Amino acid sequence: MSGRLQGKVAVVTGGASGIGEASVRRFIGEGARVVIADVDDQRGKTVADELGSAALFVHADVTDQGDWTHLLATTSAHFAPLDVLVNNAGGGRGVGKIVDEVYEGHRAILDLNLSSVWMGTRAALPVMGAHGGGSIVNISSIDGLVGVEGMTSYAASKFAVTGLTRTVAFEGGPHNVRINSVHPGFIRTPMTAKHTGAVKARLESAIQKQPITRFGTPEDIANAVLFFASDESSYCTGTSLVVDGGQLAGPHRDPM
Ligand SMILES: NC(=O)c1ccc[n+]([C@@H]2O[C@H](COP(=O)([O-])OP(=O)(O)OC[C@H]3O[C@@H](n4cnc5c(N)ncnc54)[C@H](O)[C@@H]3O)[C@@H](O)[C@H]2O)c1
Repeated sequence: MSGRLQGKVAVVTGGASGIGEASVRRFIGEGARVVIADVDDQRGKTVADELGSAALFVHADVTDQGDWTHLLATTSAHFAPLDVLVNNAGGGRGVGKIVDEVYEGHRAILDLNLSSVWMGTRAALPVMGAHGGGSIVNISSIDGLVGVEGMTSYAASKFAVTGLTRTVAFEGGPHNVRINSVHPGFIRTPMTAKHTGAVKARLESAIQKQPITRFGTPEDIANAVLFFASDESSYCTGTSLVVDGGQLAGPHRDPM
């Protein structure tokens, strides 16, 4: 039986952990060959070794222009020019009020969450266009669609990813390159497992007020990423898919 990504070559940034790792596994299960691009060499190699010849680990810091050049060249040489790029690597939660943030920290969050997506998209678009097209999937957040107190730089970076996605869709369209964003809610990954104390309590309380009162799994997000990566979404570009257990469905009120 043919998979939904049979014959496709994909690059997943941050593919060694969490949502990225789940996407790598989902893609390979659907017939793709996948490059895991990450700065965590140990975990990246372990995942790639487990997955066999359909996976390759390449050390790449998504904030480094030179690493992007090396990553796409290695992908072409080892497998073939990429058909799918998942710009997933990211992080850096809020630190509180804007007056408590420092410029260096703000810049680091923009570099990791926004400039990385800009660099990856800029590098991948011509490669995809030259061989008939492709799909770029950007991992934003629900924090890229609504304001969240105490998350200024993170939210700004994720809103910018939404804007970049919608804008670049116009450039990709004529070359059959689609570009869409996925907006996870609260997902149980190593990133959220780090939360303790008051932050953890606030997160759990917010989840209890959602229509679906559980954490999402990385696989919940990987399923949405797969949809945009595959030809099943061939008429979708410049759009956003929220996967959040209903967190953004509306404000929670006690029954009247
Ligand atoms: N977990 C959530 O609840 C949640 C919610 C909304 C959005 N997101 C977004 O989903 C994406 C993945 O998050 P996750 O929860 O799976 O995180 P994670 O911490 O489990 O995994 C992130 C991966 O990115 C890698 N990485 C970090 N910096 C990198 C760099 N400069 N270059 C290359 N790789 C790098 C890490 O080594 C790690 O393997 C992020 O963009 C995050 O903002 C997560």
